[in-house]
Amino acid sequence: MIGIRLQDALNKQINAELFSSYLYLSMSAYFEAEDLKGLAHWMHVQAEEENKHAMRIFDFVNDRSGRVTLTQIDARRPNGSRRSKRSKKPTSTSRRSPA
Ligand SMILES: [Fe+2]
Repeated sequence: MIGIRLQDALNKQINAELFSSYLYLSMSAYFEAEDLKGLAHWMHVQAEEENKHAMRIFDFVNDRSGRVTLTQIDARRPNGSRRSKRSKKPTSTSRRSPA
């Protein structure tokens, strides 16, 4: 059995590993479309590596009777920024001026 704090941290890391895998895979798709086969293959290999990291943690949590909780993987915008709440933070140009 693992503690709840450790379980939460491991679940967060699983998400981070899967996010990295997803990102590498999207880059692989981009390079495939650009007919850059070598880069596409390298990115694909990286995606698989990150997926293996996620699965090692996934199995670790399950082997210790923990609970794996998978969460949403953020989409990427064409400019590479994450589509998440953090990207909605007000910028210096959108802040209200002092009253
Ligand atoms: Fe990793």
